[in-house]
Amino acid sequence: MAPRKLLIDCDPGHDDILAILNCLAHPEAFEVLGYTTVCGNQLVELVTRNLCGVLTYLGVPGAVAQGYDAPMVLPPDPQPEAHGVTGLDGPSLPEPTVHPLQVHALDFLRDTLLAHDRVTVVALAPLTNLAMLLKTYPAVKDHIDCITLMGGSRGGGNILPRAEFNLYADPHAAKVVFESGVPIVMSDIEICQACATPHTWIDSLRGQGRVQDLAHDILQFFSLWGRRHGQNTSPIFDLVPVMHMLHPELFETAPVRVQIETEGRLTRGMTIVDSVDDPQTANVTLLKSCRDPAAYNRFLAENLALLNRRLFPEA
Ligand code: RIB
Ligand code: CA
Repeated sequence: MAPRKLLIDCDPGHDDILAILNCLAHPEAFEVLGYTTVCGNQLVELVTRNLCGVLTYLGVPGAVAQGYDAPMVLPPDPQPEAHGVTGLDGPSLPEPTVHPLQVHALDFLRDTLLAHDRVTVVALAPLTNLAMLLKTYPAVKDHIDCITLMGGSRGGGNILPRAEFNLYADPHAAKVVFESGVPIVMSDIEICQACATPHTWIDSLRGQGRVQDLAHDILQFFSLWGRRHGQNTSPIFDLVPVMHMLHPELFETAPVRVQIETEGRLTRGMTIVDSVDDPQTANVTLLKSCRDPAAYNRFLAENLALLNRRLFPEA
């Protein structure tokens, strides 16, 4: 079977990088057509530099196109508490030798999609780039197999009591994407928490290889909040959509209707998730539950080791 063609829209972002590492571990499953970056966890210049620094560290080429530097309507709302002042505090990365293309993400996405069919868009950030793409160039919809995204919740929140960051950061973009008619697979806060990764495993990563060392330094920083709040695990949010593509058998899914709150002062970006009687009326396939979180985390460990063997066979 031909590898699935991916476009990865991201705001690295600690968990964004873990998602990308797991994609890169499986070239037989994924052909990464390129990466687009967007203002989210940090300002777009910073998240773009982070992505280029990681690709440089790995020695992996990649087409990187920088995207919007602000949400469609609201101001940027970077999150240094979660991701640090750089957006990827923790690892020390080399000066990037991978540089973004001299083309805006909007045009890169359009050109790449019009040149390919059945592309999976992996959305790991606020949906500004994708909303502007679908509004400006609606013809690309015919080239998108689905958008698999990390975002939303069934009631929880990680930025507001009832809102998840990606959809909170640009709720107007989220509304455009969720109403676009493009099939959406949604990994919300609850499924990410169900697949949370043990801190003891994170601690064990150091010294296993260059890839595992990078993952260690990334996840040590990213798990600080959980450790400080007495938890033994941390959700690696953006990894879930990728693990679902690799191992769909791990997940129970359900067709649902999802609407986005754009005006609420306390509920900005909240997802209203309804069950549907007729699956035809659903706009989203929700990852409802994880059948085996231990297997999920075993696959994570295996993927990092696999990527390390592939990139650093002598190490
Ligand atoms: O709520 C988690 C999401 O917000 C993840 O994509 C993380 O990288 C942050 O962008
Ligand atoms: Ca992200």
